[in-house]
Amino acid sequence: MKNIIVGLLTLGIIGLMGLTFMGGGAFQGGEAGKVIEDFGDTMSAGNTVAIEEKDDREKEDEKLKALRDKAGNAGAFHVSNEYKSKCASCHGANGSGMQNGKPMMGPKIFGQSAEEIHTALVEFKSGRRENVVMKGLLMPMSDEDLKRFADEIGEFPARAEAAKK
Ligand code: HEC
Repeated sequence: MKNIIVGLLTLGIIGLMGLTFMGGGAFQGGEAGKVIEDFGDTMSAGNTVAIEEKDDREKEDEKLKALRDKAGNAGAFHVSNEYKSKCASCHGANGSGMQNGKPMMGPKIFGQSAEEIHTALVEFKSGRRENVVMKGLLMPMSDEDLKRFADEIGEFPARAEAAKK
């Protein structure tokens, strides 16, 4: 009789252990499932946010483009690598002196003739026209370099016209 009771108790305990284990397993599964679900939600929520951001950015770009057009900005046209690397950082990629609707460090040089630009460069280099930035930049350049930059910038309006077509 005692043996039977002990046997039943043992079975019961093993059964309980089994239940706890399964319960635990099921519980963990539930948690994991929830985490995955949450993750999915976050993912799709993240996607929507990203799409909205893109829309905003596109709108922003359009606004900026409109602003730039309004400012009589010349838009994009081909410039030399030399101009891009030495001048564009302050005078803009197209000499407008503007970037994203904001004035840059250097003034607008677009629209000046090659002679006007050349005169300005010579005067900066000689110090007759005082500007530390321009002087420092032009010091190591030869007059041929100045002429080349001046000729190129003098061509900007014509290049912009050609690029519009
Ligand atoms: C680090 C910024 C910077 C860089 C790079 C730079 N400039 Fe300038 N530039 C200026 C500033 C600032 C002025 C205004 C100086 C002044 O009027 O006293 C200026 C003025 C000028 C002017 C006179 C414009 C005017 O209407 O009076 C010309 C022309 C010019 N730069 C050409 C160039 C060329 C060509 C290059 C490339 C070789 C160049 N700049 C690179 C900052 C820069």
